[in-house]
Amino acid sequence: MTEQTTWIGTSWKMTKTLAEARAYARVLAGCDWAPGIRPFVIPPATAIATVAEVLSPGGAVLVGAQDAHWEDEGAWTGEVSVPQVKDAGARLLEIGHSERRAHFAETDERVNLKVHAALRHGLLPLVCVGETAQQRAAGAALDTVTAQVRAALAGVPATTRVLLAYEPVWAIGEHGTPATPEQVRDVVTAIARVAGPARPVLYGGSVSLDNARDLLDLPQVSGLFVGRAAWDAGGFLALADLAAQPAPQAPGGPYS
Ligand code: PGA
Repeated sequence: MTEQTTWIGTSWKMTKTLAEARAYARVLAGCDWAPGIRPFVIPPATAIATVAEVLSPGGAVLVGAQDAHWEDEGAWTGEVSVPQVKDAGARLLEIGHSERRAHFAETDERVNLKVHAALRHGLLPLVCVGETAQQRAAGAALDTVTAQVRAALAGVPATTRVLLAYEPVWAIGEHGTPATPEQVRDVVTAIARVAGPARPVLYGGSVSLDNARDLLDLPQVSGLFVGRAAWDAGGFLALADLAAQPAPQAPGGPYS
C-alpha cells in the first residue's frame, strides 16, 4: 500500500500541567483537518488520559505515550506499562527517542522489546532513530541509523505497521541545527531500504515553519515529528496548515 498520509505530530516531552494539556487539546479538538493530514500528540504520561478524553477515542488526532516498559506489569518502580498507557487512551507509542537512549539506557535491545510490547497490545510504534554528531563526522551516519532500524524491527513481520522517525541527535533541541533536506533524503532513503517502502518515515529535529516546507517536499518523508515549534497549539496548527498546502510550483512550471 502506498502511504499518502502526511503525519504531523508533537511530543511535549516533560512540559505541561493538566490545565495546559487540556487547553491545548481543546484547540485541536475543534479543528477540521485537511484530507491526508494525520495529526498526533504525545503528552507526558500524567496528561495522556486528560488529552485522550478531550480528543475522544477514535477521533482524528492520535494520542500517544512517550515511553512504556516492555513488561505488562510487575515490580518496576516508576515505570508505566503498555497496557496502562493504552488504558489511559494512548494509541501510539514513541520508542527510542535519543534523549531516552542517552539518559535512560534505552538500548537497541530494549527498543525492540518495546516495539513488540506495543504491537502485542495493538499500539502503533513510532521508533526514533538517529546518529550523533561524532558518528556523522566519522562517516557512520547511514550505518548507525540502519543498524538501529534493523535492531528495532527484529522479529517484526514485514507487513506490520510501524512508524519511524529520523531524528539526528545533533538536530534536536535548543542547541540543535536542523538537518538539510539532502541529509534527510539520504538517511531516510537508507531507512526505507531496511524498514520496507510501506513504512512511513518522519523527520524530527528543530523543525520549524522556516524549514518544514522543504522537508515535506521530499518524497521520501511522510511527515514531521516536532518538539518546541509545536509546544503551543498555534504552532502545531500552523505546521499542519503548511503540510496541507500543495508544494509551490517550481520555476519553469505552468505559472512562470
Ligand atoms: P525539537 O525536538 O523539535 O524541539 O528539536 C524534536 C524531537 O526531539 O523530536
